[in-house]
Amino acid sequence: MKQADWGTKLLFVNACISQRGAASRTYGVALAFLDAWQEAHPDDAHTMVRVDKMGLQPFTEAALEKRDALAASGDFSDPLFRPARIFREAETIVVAAPFWDLTFPAALRIYIEHISACGLCYHYEADGCHGDCKASRLLYITTGGDFEKPESLGVLYWKQLSEMFGIPRFDYVFAGGLDVDPSKVPEILTEAKEKARQFGREF
Ligand SMILES: Cc1cc2nc3c(=O)[nH]c(=O)nc-3n(C[C@H](O)[C@H](O)[C@H](O)COP(=O)(O)O)c2cc1C
Repeated sequence: MKQADWGTKLLFVNACISQRGAASRTYGVALAFLDAWQEAHPDDAHTMVRVDKMGLQPFTEAALEKRDALAASGDFSDPLFRPARIFREAETIVVAAPFWDLTFPAALRIYIEHISACGLCYHYEADGCHGDCKASRLLYITTGGDFEKPESLGVLYWKQLSEMFGIPRFDYVFAGGLDVDPSKVPEILTEAKEKARQFGREF
């Protein structure tokens, strides 16, 4: 699949960390989306970031001080801001992560710390926070062992992040119940992949 970088048509935030490797069920649903998207956009390329392989560290006091000093001087060219710059410039975004411990893998939370750069991806005005990301929409793809519950935290988290970043449209695909009855897994995944494909065609 073609790869782009700045101002990418589609940013794929890949948090499919799995003991199944490339056979990750979450990644499988994400691939259904990507294949349909590529078919609908044969001349376009997407950018993929794999959140656990970017060398990102949780913010420490020293890292926060450095980030604040750079932001105060309006200098966002430092590599520290690279994940945020790529996220901010993307035209559309798909995030895929398994449902872990009621949300998602910690590596994705660390990625969120890095893209939540005030002055770049959002800013404050008298009435509160305003988003500055360019994406028109964001799709969150997740798969869970248990069945989907209302207000699932991972889904809510990305819904609220989309609002914070000024991304007007949020959708999600949740393939739930995958660790309940093995005989139902193919059916659940087929349905989730079809939903993902539909989003891929309309993105
Ligand atoms: C570390 C870990 C934590 C998990 N936590 C949850 C959980 O809180 N709720 C849930 O329904 N399933 C949980 N699961 C099950 C996975 O969400 C489920 O098996 C998912 O389909 C894994 O996707 P994968 O094939 O992409 O790895 C967890 C799995 C792992 C490995």
